[in-house]
Amino acid sequence: MVKRGDCQLKKIQAIIRPFLLDEIKIALVKVGVMGITVSEVRGFGRQKGHTEPLPHSESTVKFLAKILIEIVIKDEQADRVVDTIIAAVRTGEIGDGKIFVSPVEQVIRIRTGEKNLDAI
Ligand SMILES: Nc1ncnc2c1ncn2[C@@H]1O[C@H](COP(=O)(O)OP(=O)(O)OP(=O)(O)O)[C@@H](O)[C@H]1O
Ligand SMILES: [Mg+2]
Repeated sequence: MVKRGDCQLKKIQAIIRPFLLDEIKIALVKVGVMGITVSEVRGFGRQKGHTEPLPHSESTVKFLAKILIEIVIKDEQADRVVDTIIAAVRTGEIGDGKIFVSPVEQVIRIRTGEKNLDAI
């Protein structure tokens, strides 16, 4: 039986600038990801949605359009996927985005009933 919590998979969530989506898609397919989910999202980071560092007196907060990319991948491939994302989208300017990596408890491929490593 497949134990829950022993899935050997990671979820990578990357929040990036919208215009870089095509670039990242091509790079990720090249490193062998099996699927990608993309959403249009809005968010802010440390500059509260401003494109310059905020003076302390400034208090307005703006949401900026971003793209959220979600990928579930084998543990051992996670570092490579993270490096690929960074190489594709990093400009060195504020607002380059953020990557969150977390463990996945269970994956089920609906059509076949396969689970976890067999299901991605
Ligand atoms: N702590 C966080 N939790 C959830 N989402 C976040 C967090 N930080 C950033 N984000 C998301 O990532 C997007 C891009 O963030 P951003 O790159 O501006 O982060 P930052 O910490 O301000 O870094 P930088 O100083 O390089 O701009 C935000 O618009 C938001 O959607
Ligand atoms: Mg920022």
